[in-house]
Amino acid sequence: MPFIIKKLSRRVTLFAAVLLCTLCFLAFINRLILLDYDLQATMTQHLQNTDSKNDSKMIQKLIERINDEQIIFNDLKYEALQNDSIVIVVQVHKRITYLRHLIQSLSQAKDISKTLIIFSHDFYDEEINKLVQNIDFCKVMQIFYPYSIQTHPHQFPGTDPQDCDRDISKSDAIKIKCKNAHFPDLYGHYREAKYTQMKNHWWWKLNRIFDELNVTRSLSDMQLLLLEEDYMIAPDFLHILSQMQSLSKRKCSYCNILSLGTYIESTNYDSYNKVEISPWLTSKHNMGMSLNRTTWNDIKSCAKYFCSYDEYNYDWSLQNVNYNCLTNKLFAMIIKSPRVFHIGECGMHHNSENCDPSQAINRIQFVIENAMLSKKFYPKRLKVTKMYDEYESKDNLKPNGGFADLRDQVLCLNMTTFYTF
Ligand SMILES: *[C@@H]1O[C@H](CO)[C@@H](O)[C@H](O)[C@H]1NC(C)=O
Ligand SMILES: *[C@@H]1O[C@H](CO)[C@@H](O)[C@H](O)[C@H]1NC(C)=O
Ligand SMILES: *[C@@H]1O[C@H](CO)[C@@H](O)[C@H](O)[C@H]1NC(C)=O
Ligand SMILES: *[C@@H]1O[C@H](CO)[C@@H](O)[C@H](O)[C@H]1NC(C)=O
Ligand SMILES: *[C@@H]1O[C@H](CO)[C@@H](O)[C@H](O)[C@H]1NC(C)=O
Repeated sequence: MPFIIKKLSRRVTLFAAVLLCTLCFLAFINRLILLDYDLQATMTQHLQNTDSKNDSKMIQKLIERINDEQIIFNDLKYEALQNDSIVIVVQVHKRITYLRHLIQSLSQAKDISKTLIIFSHDFYDEEINKLVQNIDFCKVMQIFYPYSIQTHPHQFPGTDPQDCDRDISKSDAIKIKCKNAHFPDLYGHYREAKYTQMKNHWWWKLNRIFDELNVTRSLSDMQLLLLEEDYMIAPDFLHILSQMQSLSKRKCSYCNILSLGTYIESTNYDSYNKVEISPWLTSKHNMGMSLNRTTWNDIKSCAKYFCSYDEYNYDWSLQNVNYNCLTNKLFAMIIKSPRVFHIGECGMHHNSENCDPSQAINRIQFVIENAMLSKKFYPKRLKVTKMYDEYESKDNLKPNGGFADLRDQVLCLNMTTFYTF
């Protein structure tokens, strides 16, 4: 009898031990799985109070990790990218209402499942992340600009408390020894972080995508289409882009920018199958523009003309690259009835975050529906109707300033990996 009890108790002990180990193991696995969620939850909690130093540090850590991991959502769900795939990059700040409409319009585009869309963020926001990560119609990736104001709230590239006020005079600035006293812009103003961020972000994402990300740097013939959060697209935009690619190969080998938008309101879509060819003009051809690696390598070799130019607009900076450095000048092929629309008129430059976009959105939806009804989308072939030889007059090339701070210029140059000082 005692023997049986002893044996039994030994079994119970053994059983208990095994049970305990199993539980420990499960808890450990669970912990591993939960770690990510924990971090997210803590983030969300802390983000309620976004101005504190610790939060910006946490966000910085988080985005460094995301940038390292290079996760592609829906990667296995859709076929592998090809060397000549179209990749789309969307520069995102924080206008989620616009972004929602852009994504909605992308979801309705034919062949969208063959592309990779990269969202390039300069603001970390859970709501925006959720919106982007819920996309199920193609491969998706998020990259985060690592030098943002959000993650550097009280230091460069954000605004350092010791930076000079925008409007202080140079002599006063030197007297009080504010940090950037020696670098006012052409118009005597000191840097404003939110403007320099846009240009530096633009330059960073191109370097990142063409030369650094594992998934894209090896796509030798990739065509990169540049969109912004406040755009919308027509359902045949990919069809048009690939037709323009083959048309340019046949008829315009010097066309190195393919442009899917224009600012001209052509709401009747009469020119739905017509393209024109023109020297690339800053203010006309910067919407829905796309470029391939050859063009990028040319532009990149002129990094200095982009980064060290006292101009806070990326497109005007690109114009400087074009005029003063490129041997193969930028030539654009432009579809006359636009497939990319800009809906955020009251956007960045107007300081109105609660401006109502619904009017512009309704107008574009109306244009798209009409074009669909009158069968203006998916033309079988494109026709070249105009070959302009207009050039921007040199008078228009006067820079707008806002990018004279040496720190901004160095940061910009340093994003181009091959560049050495
Ligand atoms: C940041 O966090 C550390 C430790 O968690 C804390 O000691 C410090 O007071 C925090 N600083 C700010 C500015 O919140
Ligand atoms: C990117 O490619 C490199 C070299 O092939 C590899 O070592 C690295 O792990 C890859 N990174 C990711 C995130 O896939
Ligand atoms: C892509 O191009 C590389 C080199 O240019 C080549 O080795 C590879 O086979 C190509 N891949 C595909 C899928 O065409
Ligand atoms: C990029 O486009 C240019 C101009 O159309 C063309 O000459 C070049 O071959 C293309 N490069 C690649 C890598 O596809
Ligand atoms: C340039 O970037 C590298 C990392 O890519 C960094 O280590 C270095 O400090 C940067 N230099 C300047 C002058 O910003």
